[in-house]
Amino acid sequence: MDHFTLIDGELHAENVPLARIAADVGTPVYVYSTATFQRHARAFREGLAGVPRARIAFAIKANPNLAVLRLLANEGFGADVVSGGELARALAAGMPPEGIVFSGVGKTRAELDQGLNAGIGQFNLELEEEGVVLSELAVARNIRAPATLRVNPDVDAGTHEKISTGRAENKFGLPISEARAIFDRLAPLQGLNLRGVAVHIGSQLQSLEPLERAYTRVGELVAELRAAGHSITHVDLGGGLGVPYRTTDTPPSPAEFGEMVARVTRGWDVELMFEPGRVIAANAGVLLTQVLWVKPGVTHPYVIVDSAMNDLARVALYDAYHDFVAVKPSGETMTANVAGPVCESSDVFAKGREIDVVKSGDLAVLRSAGAYGATMASTYNSRPLVPEVLVSGDTYAVVAGRIAAETIMAEEHVPDWLK
Ligand code: LLP
Repeated sequence: MDHFTLIDGELHAENVPLARIAADVGTPVYVYSTATFQRHARAFREGLAGVPRARIAFAIKANPNLAVLRLLANEGFGADVVSGGELARALAAGMPPEGIVFSGVGKTRAELDQGLNAGIGQFNLELEEEGVVLSELAVARNIRAPATLRVNPDVDAGTHEKISTGRAENKFGLPISEARAIFDRLAPLQGLNLRGVAVHIGSQLQSLEPLERAYTRVGELVAELRAAGHSITHVDLGGGLGVPYRTTDTPPSPAEFGEMVARVTRGWDVELMFEPGRVIAANAGVLLTQVLWVKPGVTHPYVIVDSAMNDLARVALYDAYHDFVAVKPSGETMTANVAGPVCESSDVFAKGREIDVVKSGDLAVLRSAGAYGATMASTYNSRPLVPEVLVSGDTYAVVAGRIAAETIMAEEHVPDWLK
């Protein structure tokens, strides 16, 4: 459930009419709901009520806006980060360093250093050499870096190919079959406190079955490592829980997820870390846009809106579905394509879809855009970087301003030899 609803026939974010935000801030603009973020954060936590010693690190790649991070820090969430930039954001938002997990297959030495300097809670190692380097950096500081090995359980998450990470051929994690030998070699290193394993098999999962298979394999590995004399105190179960983008989608609920986790991990006797992203953020945001033109098409008219693939890349990248609804729906519908102004045929949000009747000047939203929306935006076609607004009750704040093409141009320089 979210807090984007019709009040007196007009779409609101909580109690704020979206038309007011469009008038004040302009379009396109991402609009987030505080109450929806809180609701999702609490539902996720409550879903894990049957799991002792569960900790949650929001995968901030899903929505790294500082206000969103602060909101989630206030809910007791830590952060899963994958770059020095994300680490800096988590800290700037007031997330305690011990609640920060550093994931990612290509951390630089400078980023490992940055994590050690900040005193983060956990490094998820993706290859043996990374563990050796992290240990050396830690020894130089006279500390031990808390770390887990991320394993690849060779499980097909059954999701879109581009957001699957747990098959053997994917670049992520260590082959689970080699984990024991690598653990044996890394655990004695002086600068490491190698204390567990991590797994993440993909995103937008519509079924618990692949997660359960992956977690079961991790449980077997934990037992094997313990039998070999290793102390295993931490397991990171990653993220991946899907969300409904269409009303017909029925992903597992956080409660069903929590029930499965409680059953599979019973007796593990470890601190469990979770890294949800999408399930917290996706339905807490919409992309508010204005219809520029309705252009006749060969089969269906093209509704040309002022947002584009540079603002919301998911449709062009993953053939993702985002609901398109009018801010003031008349109740009438039409079959149309919805497209942005960018000069690419992939800049189409919907094809031959039954949508609310709209005409030029009308406002509409692309729903479920709070995760992997603004964070993946670019300035392609020299369009401004899309701004973000956070609503709470009957007030709102601009939490990221629109960055003009001129501001970006100011960072570009024509060298003297061309003048
Ligand atoms: N942990 C790790 C190590 C991850 O790589 C990811 C996502 C997550 C947690 C969070 O997964 P979530 O709970 O959000 O499914 N841009 C794509 C999604 C990429 C996901 C990358 N990794 C999209 O728009 O669908």
